[in-house]
Amino acid sequence: MQVALLGGTGDIGEGLALRIAAETDHEVLVGSREESKAVDAATDYEDVLAEHGHDVALSGHANDEATALGDVVVLAVPPFHVTDTVDAVAAELDAGTVLVSPAVGMDKSADGFSYDPPGVGSVTELVAATAPDEVPVVGAFHNLPANRLAHLDDDLGIDTLVVADDDDAKRTVVDLADDVGGLRPVDAGPLANAPEIEGITPLLINIAMNNDDMHDVGVRFL
Ligand SMILES: NC(=O)c1ccc[n+]([C@@H]2O[C@H](COP(=O)([O-])OP(=O)(O)OC[C@H]3O[C@@H](n4cnc5c(N)ncnc54)[C@H](OP(=O)(O)O)[C@@H]3O)[C@@H](O)[C@H]2O)c1
Repeated sequence: MQVALLGGTGDIGEGLALRIAAETDHEVLVGSREESKAVDAATDYEDVLAEHGHDVALSGHANDEATALGDVVVLAVPPFHVTDTVDAVAAELDAGTVLVSPAVGMDKSADGFSYDPPGVGSVTELVAATAPDEVPVVGAFHNLPANRLAHLDDDLGIDTLVVADDDDAKRTVVDLADDVGGLRPVDAGPLANAPEIEGITPLLINIAMNNDDMHDVGVRFL
């Protein structure tokens, strides 16, 4: 399977690219608004993977090309740019593409971070409302600590909650997450449950900010 990471040059894109390339047989396509930036990032990730004993090739593409090639397309871009990004690649999306949203809207104040969802309830549901009707949307990876993903020597031992209305698309993303060692996908129901998942992310950041020994914390449901 080809996994395209739009905005794959950023933090969560890097973490997902490295883990998926290192631990699965799926092909990773790094996407960017600028093709040359994606190509450079893909080369950098290959170097990191080689340092860890993984001889894997990644490719870099403009976001629209990565979308056209991808079986799974992850919107690894800031929450306030997901709709622009979906619009920019919409012509390359079809019923055979699984579109994944990990984005979370947050506000920062003196107290810390708080959840700031869009009017439709969650960024995941906003993506579903923006994407062409036939494209199945899955919410996943919202609560993953990017930095920990990128440190390939760190054991993950964390969960990722997955929501979707399309069972086949959800299964595809559950299987993808399951292929990554130490990452356990947990089915959290339909897209309507995305706000509860996205709302965990500011909590995790507040925990990290207030506890020196809990940087890059994730969740594990026991
Ligand atoms: N960081 C985490 O630990 C983490 C964990 C879980 C979920 N998330 C979610 O994942 C998403 C990405 O987070 P991140 O920390 O990786 O963000 P980031 O590093 O700030 O940005 C990711 C990429 O988004 C692209 N981008 C920036 N501005 C854009 C714009 N105006 N339009 C389209 N693309 C733009 C950039 O790629 P190019 O310049 O190459 O196009 C950038 O490298 C967010 O929605 C966040 O809520 C993050």
